Amino acid sequence: MGLKGKYELPFELNNPELLHNQSFVSGKWVKSKSGKTFEVVDPGTGKPWIECPINDASDVDDAVKSAHDCFESYRKVSPRTRAQLLFQWDALIRENREDLATILVHETGKPKAEAYGEIDYSTGFTWWFAGEAERIQGTVFQPSLPDRRVFTIKQPLGVAAALVPWNFPIAMVLRKAAAALAAGCTMIVKPSPETPITALALAYLASKAGFPDGALNILTTDLEKTPELSEALCRHELVRKVSFTGSTRVGKLVARLCSDSLKKVTLELGGNCPVVIFDDANLDQALAQVFALKYRHAGQACVTANRIYVQSGIFDKFLEKWTAEVKKIVVGHGADNTTTMGPVTTARGIEKAQSLVDDAKSKGATIHVGGKKLEKNGGYFFEPTVISGIKPDMDIAKEEIFAPVSTFIKFDTEDEAVKAANDTSMGLASYCFTKNIDRMWRLFENLDAGMIGMNTGNSSAAESPFGGIKQSGYGKESGKDVAVAEYLITKTGTLTLEGQA
Ligand code: SIN
Repeated sequence: MGLKGKYELPFELNNPELLHNQSFVSGKWVKSKSGKTFEVVDPGTGKPWIECPINDASDVDDAVKSAHDCFESYRKVSPRTRAQLLFQWDALIRENREDLATILVHETGKPKAEAYGEIDYSTGFTWWFAGEAERIQGTVFQPSLPDRRVFTIKQPLGVAAALVPWNFPIAMVLRKAAAALAAGCTMIVKPSPETPITALALAYLASKAGFPDGALNILTTDLEKTPELSEALCRHELVRKVSFTGSTRVGKLVARLCSDSLKKVTLELGGNCPVVIFDDANLDQALAQVFALKYRHAGQACVTANRIYVQSGIFDKFLEKWTAEVKKIVVGHGADNTTTMGPVTTARGIEKAQSLVDDAKSKGATIHVGGKKLEKNGGYFFEPTVISGIKPDMDIAKEEIFAPVSTFIKFDTEDEAVKAANDTSMGLASYCFTKNIDRMWRLFENLDAGMIGMNTGNSSAAESPFGGIKQSGYGKESGKDVAVAEYLITKTGTLTLEGQA
């Protein structure tokens, strides 16, 4: 592939046309008005490998107008054609799986096997929402008067904006964009500064699939200009919907900014998710499931296991087995086939992990393995870490860790575990492991979260409504009806009927 700008690409692609590093607006590759750029860094080496435009508020209007112009015609495209476009996009993403995985590894740091996993999870969304496009339906009601007819239709609500995180950049773009495009909306995506290249590759493939110019637009920017660009999108009159995945702090800002023009908002926010493992669980099943959940992308998922509660009868045995597994993790660059855990994606992720671990240690927690930054090839590595003796006053119990640090807490009774698990302002996902069906059902009802994993550490799938309660946000992405509904308005029709005796 050779040089891109002043950087040496650290990989080669089978399909070099996939690689773009300008914004995508109205079907064209464009610079920002300022002409300024920022660097995208490989977290596995700490080295920049490509640059992208720094867009700011002055770049927003063109993109929104392009999306709005397109919306005027795209809204009338038949649901079957929208489904066919989504299927074509889906096919092209699958065809380019290898190259997309390579880019993903160099943006996020995740191991190649996980990158494939993310792409396979993500095409679930293009496939699923292609099906959903033709299943959008209104209703007809039994009227209260003999000459009245009452019904509803669903219509796309207009231009949508997606503010997307860096941890699963392909999945999060597709979960939002495929739903919007299925509904008949057009979209502007603002990817994270860490992961713009996968978003641009997806836009290239959407265009190849036949989506009209302006249907999917990508505005890249750096960390400094992210608040300004996001605010301009949230305030723009022609943007009718904002879907945000990220921190609770920023989610509240987004909701506030969108309230002025009463935009519809979906917020997928922080997790601090608990896992509760009972004495009667299948230990091997619980270990495999929670381990995969915790160490997926080095612990950088909103739905990851933040606090692991284990009942006293199996606590020591579980912790011992878990620690032995953690010691087997092979940390390295995601492109190395022997790597089982990559770096964290940002340098600030290391600092946060270190401060959480240090706080826990200073308040009496026990570190069984790991606990500090790992110097390796200049990348952002943190040792896979296991800590027990976690107390509610420790920062690590209250905040999302977003690093490969697992924390263990012993409990005795079901009531005690439920109370502790729910003792958080968040409510994204909770997980429980038991073979007692009565207890399982009680936990399903009593754990305060939008998603409950029962004897599983993986409840994310295109068919499953994804979303939290409490300060983890509102709205659902993926799943039947609910996700596309986030991009639709309901219009009620009332008709006075003459001539029907
Ligand atoms: C997230 O953690 O932000 C999303 C993870 C998922 O979709 O499973």
